[in-house]
Amino acid sequence: MNDTNGTTRTCGLIGNPVAHSISPVIHNHLAALSGINLVYVTFPVEKSALHDAVKGAYALDILGLNVTVPYKSDVIPELVDIDPLAKQIGAVNTLVRVDGGFKGYNTDMPGLYRAMCSDGVKVEGEKVLVLGAGGAARANAFLLAYHHASEIIIMNRTIQKAQIIADAVKQAFPETAVKAMALNEFDKLSGNDYICIQATSVGLHPNDEDVVIADLAFYKKLKVGYDVICNPVETKFMKLVKEAGGEAHNGLKMLLYQGILAYELWNQCNITEEDASFVFRKMKEAMGIHE
Ligand code: ATR
Repeated sequence: MNDTNGTTRTCGLIGNPVAHSISPVIHNHLAALSGINLVYVTFPVEKSALHDAVKGAYALDILGLNVTVPYKSDVIPELVDIDPLAKQIGAVNTLVRVDGGFKGYNTDMPGLYRAMCSDGVKVEGEKVLVLGAGGAARANAFLLAYHHASEIIIMNRTIQKAQIIADAVKQAFPETAVKAMALNEFDKLSGNDYICIQATSVGLHPNDEDVVIADLAFYKKLKVGYDVICNPVETKFMKLVKEAGGEAHNGLKMLLYQGILAYELWNQCNITEEDASFVFRKMKEAMGIHE
């Protein structure tokens, strides 16, 4: 870790709660590796203090902030500018200092895309299923359209909610084939080469045995499955993907790369894959994960 001195810059995380966050481990290792004089700390912020926190951070010359629950949408009115993808997604997790305030970005979903690149999984021209119709599913659907998936199917228990996302994606990316489907209609899917992103909190610890679709016949249609969940490191969804012969990934690399993308935005640098791998090991060590 770098020694701090009079020119050390500060980045941090605002949210509530923040004490459990792995982001300080990611960013302080990145700072040491890239030789940038920066520290990253957490700032628990009460809801009524969000406006003052963002204003105060600017006044204190904070270089950049991450934003976590419950403020990823609430922070948007506090910004002087917003990246178009973050605007479409409707959620911001990274604030970058610009003239007069902060500009908002969303690195969560690009983080998943970069994790997929690192795993050798391409999105362009591929058929992708998104399970769920909450915030993560919506963000994923936009990201997949942005990266030219050939077909996006949003599958949800309540089909109306999936249809709202499909309509919004279609409006933003009119050339994309996107549709909604109820979970129990999976037998209508043709082929066995889908990439599937599990974008709900179903299966999160302590409900390790829960899964959105339990039928192995569904998983036989998949070649790759991504779960946005990190805990447990192997979800029931991932077990079923593997049992059906596919490749399965958890949300840990997505977590790593959302941090790396934020760090690159703050410092206008590129983190190498070698440094990313080192930080990934440190992150897993700090989380007590031995994969
Ligand atoms: P967010 O990304 O907004 O945090 P979430 O709360 O993690 O979302 O997940 C919400 C999604 O999980 C919804 O799509 C929900 O389906 P409905 O829209 O039908 O409510 C889905 N979900 C939650 N529990 C589920 C279950 N037991 N089976 C299937 N889907 C479920």
